[in-house]
This record gives sequence, C-alpha cells and structure tokens, in this order.
Amino acid sequence: MIIVREVAQLRQAIAERRQLGTNRAKAEYGSAAIQQHTVGFVPTMGYLHEGHASLMQKARELSDTVVLSIFVNPIQFGPNEDLDSYPRDEARDLEVARREGVDIVFLPTVAEMYPQPTRTKIHVSALTERLCGASRPGHFDGVTTVVAKLFNMVNPDLAFFGMKDAQQVAVLQQMVTDLNMNVTIVPCPIVREADGLALSSRNVYLSAEQREQALVLSQSLRKVREVSEDAVQNSFTIGQIHQMVESTITSSPLADIDYIEILTFPGLEPILAEQRLSDVQEDIIVALAVKFGNTRLIDNIRLQKAEVLSHV
Ligand code: PAJ
Repeated sequence: MIIVREVAQLRQAIAERRQLGTNRAKAEYGSAAIQQHTVGFVPTMGYLHEGHASLMQKARELSDTVVLSIFVNPIQFGPNEDLDSYPRDEARDLEVARREGVDIVFLPTVAEMYPQPTRTKIHVSALTERLCGASRPGHFDGVTTVVAKLFNMVNPDLAFFGMKDAQQVAVLQQMVTDLNMNVTIVPCPIVREADGLALSSRNVYLSAEQREQALVLSQSLRKVREVSEDAVQNSFTIGQIHQMVESTITSSPLADIDYIEILTFPGLEPILAEQRLSDVQEDIIVALAVKFGNTRLIDNIRLQKAEVLSHV
C-alpha cells in the first residue's frame, strides 16, 4: 500500500498504476485486448469504521486500483461545529485500509489542500437548501468544493459514497451531471451496529445513556419500513408517518430533534402531508437529524417506489 501526502505524489502513484495495468494487458493479450484500468475512489474524513470499510470493499470489487483519501475538510465545518475535536487515528485508519486491500492512501495536510485562500467554490442550488443544508449553512459548498478538488487530483472512474449521507449523494450526483465530470457515483447501503445504530465517526462522542437512547432513530425508521411493507398501513398518509416517527423519537427524553423530513429522492422535493404513501409516484426518503447533547446524529431510510407498490 502506497501512502502519499502530496498531490504531486498522488498523481504520480496513480499514473504508475494506470500504466502498469495497461502494460500488463498489452503483454498478456496484445494491443487489441487493452482494457481500461479502472480507478475507484473512496473519499473520507478518517476515523474509519465498518461503514467506510464497506465502501472500500465495493471499490475493491469493482476497480483495478483503489484510492482512499483521509482529510478532515475544514471548509465543510461551521464556526461552532466539531472541526477541532473531530476524532482522528491515522495509525488505525492505515490498518483498516491495509486490511481492505487499498492500493493508495492520500493523507494531505490542510496546507496541501488549500495552499492559498480559496476564491472558487462549487455551489449546488435547491438540493442544498433543505435537511442538513438548512441546519448547516455553507456545509455542502465545502463538501462539493473539496470533492471536486479530490476528483481533479485522483481522476477516478468510480467514486463510492454511503447512503448514510443521502443528501450528500444527491448533491454530488447533481454536481457530476451538471459539470460533466467523468466519474460514476456509486451509492452504497448504510452499515449499522447489530442493534440498529448507523455507524458514524461521531458515535464515539455519545455517553452510554445517549448511546442507548439514540436507538430511537433506527427504531423509528424500522417502523416506517414495516408500514411501507404492510398492505393496509401503506395507505397511511405522509403526515401520519411523520407523526409516527416523531412520537418514537420524542419517547427518548435526551433526543433534541433538528429535523424529521419526508421528501422525494433524489430530487428532495417536499410531499404533501395528505398524500398517501402508496400514492406517491417517486422514491421517498425519510431523513432525520437528532442531537444528543452536543452530538448531532443523522439517519434515513429510502423507500423505493417499487417496494411500496409490491405490497399494495
Ligand atoms: P465521512 O463522514 O468520513 O464519510 C465518508 C464516506 O463514508 C461517506 O460517503 C459516508 O456516507 C460514508 N459512511 C459513513 N458512515 C457510513 C455508514 N454507517 N454506512 C455506509 N456508509 C457510511 O462524508 C464525508 O466523510 C465527507 O463529507 C467527504 C465526502 C469525505 C468530503 O469531505
């Protein structure tokens, strides 16, 4: 596994891997059989867990070269957020990367990523105005800008993102399409603990009591799944489902709700409260952000139209 900290080294290492793949194909099969060497990219902020590992596994499965980046991106944190306390453990992260068969790890410093004050930002409109975009102004501009920079450095064929951050997937997909970026976004399923809590680097901030009560997030979403799969209950209205989720979450005294929203996916358009679940003609996302003390957790469930329909 190659570990690089500078952009120039990263470009060199990737160029060598691409060259290697092409040369090997040429030697083994002759020039007519040269196939493209596929580079898969997994961007992260480190403190890696099984959710990140699942992205690396998918990348390993689909790519010749797997590139992982670990960079806590300051421009996506607000002034009162947890940039300084964001958990870090480089040695452990490198072990996880090695175990998952990553080929190149990119570990830049802030100075390497932002050598001069940035005057160029990427802003995706509409999709960033709801959910986490409303609670965290400027957050998604920071995400799209750093991901675009990383894409320009790695030049990947495939890039892997978790549906844990469903809005991030929708926003990045829009950016890639709008700007004709030559990369395919591969969304990957949410990885959870055995008791349902979605894995997050921020879970380490939770006290034992908060950790216990945080289970209301996944429990409320599991109820939504059950309703959608039930031939009678899927005639519930969006308003009723919202109510059901809210009452499950408020059953935890430590939960402080930031938002509960039911939107179309990936368009993130609101759905009328009176509309019946079984009548909605698009995929739906039920998305939550809930604070436990200073720790803000997010979770979501996506209901695909076909799944709801198949149980009508
Ligand atoms: P980070 O929070 O480190 O997450 C990196 C990737 O791991 C994201 O695509 C995220 O959705 C995915 N991920 C996190 N928890 C997951 C889980 N439980 N199951 C499946 N996937 C999970 O997201 C970021 O970093 C940053 O915004 C980044 C894209 C790197 C830009 O700075």
